[in-house]
Amino acid sequence: MTGPIPRSSDPKDKVLYVENVCKAYGGKVVLDDVDLSVRSGEFCGVVGPSGCGKSTLLRLILGAEEPTSGRILLDNEPVGPPDPKRGIVYQKYSLFPHLTVLDNVLLGKRLTLDFAFRRQAAALTEEAMALLKQMRLEGDAAKYPHQLSGGMQQRVAIAQAMVMRPSILLMDEPFGALDPGTREDMQVHLLEAWEKSKMTVFFVTHDLPEAVYLATRVLVLTQFYRDERGDGYPGRGAKVVGDYDVAHLSGSTDLKRRAEYADLVQTIRQDGFEPEARRHVNDFNLKHPDSWRSLRPEESGG
Ligand SMILES: Nc1ncnc2c1ncn2[C@@H]1O[C@H](COP(=O)(O)OP(=O)(O)OP(=O)(O)O)[C@@H](O)[C@H]1O
Ligand SMILES: [Mg+2]
Repeated sequence: MTGPIPRSSDPKDKVLYVENVCKAYGGKVVLDDVDLSVRSGEFCGVVGPSGCGKSTLLRLILGAEEPTSGRILLDNEPVGPPDPKRGIVYQKYSLFPHLTVLDNVLLGKRLTLDFAFRRQAAALTEEAMALLKQMRLEGDAAKYPHQLSGGMQQRVAIAQAMVMRPSILLMDEPFGALDPGTREDMQVHLLEAWEKSKMTVFFVTHDLPEAVYLATRVLVLTQFYRDERGDGYPGRGAKVVGDYDVAHLSGSTDLKRRAEYADLVQTIRQDGFEPEARRHVNDFNLKHPDSWRSLRPEESGG
């Protein structure tokens, strides 16, 4: 064998295509040959232990940073600096405090359309109001961010990203700062918005139950794996060690009471979060039909 063995090697029908991506800061390898591809309309949950490189991967897809090696395609084109094709929702702080809710949602359109905005203002306002309504915020359009709860602010942030109709919506622990009850409400709002818009979502969380509940697919990123470099190898970065098709489980409201759900959460926890349970690269759990199997020749055992 002379090269990696890709199972998902055609970028043409994929929204997102990440191939052989490594990212190092100085001598520290964070992402170590990451491969993944995502189809349009998919809701990907990305989980992994703290510090494994989830946010780093998101920043690379956003174009805020460049990979050390490898390539990332969005709609079959290499990603450049951040642009409206990629929406992003962070845990906090994406709203401008001096703008109303409606103006926050319209800001991206105002900036990208420039002079053309005025001509389309009525239609865009209508669209923004429809999104606010979907997020149950139609009565709050004239308020300022400080007048809203954390959950409401995050719903504005989601509307703000969605109004741009990005090819992919990137979310980095978007509900991480919310209390459990609000968090559950947010999950329901997001699922509704996703179902209506058919958007492609890349959702990073370290809450496994949240990932399995929301996503149609769960990707597990971790540095806990074994390969020919030996267990003690210090410079190891993270890879995608698990890739699960969970479409049959996700989104159902009674899901969280089903044994299958708890079993899957447990399996994923073992896959990525337990250093003692680490498996060999040849035995990764890549069960999703779009998952990659891309092993270096020296890793694949010849
Ligand atoms: N700009 C940087 N310079 C140096 N090291 C960095 C930089 N950004 C991230 N790192 C390192 O990369 C590793 C991965 O960080 P990252 O924030 O991507 O992890 P994460 O999986 O998002 O963690 P968490 O779950 O805690 O948010 C960490 O060890 C971090 O210290
Ligand atoms: Mg992070």
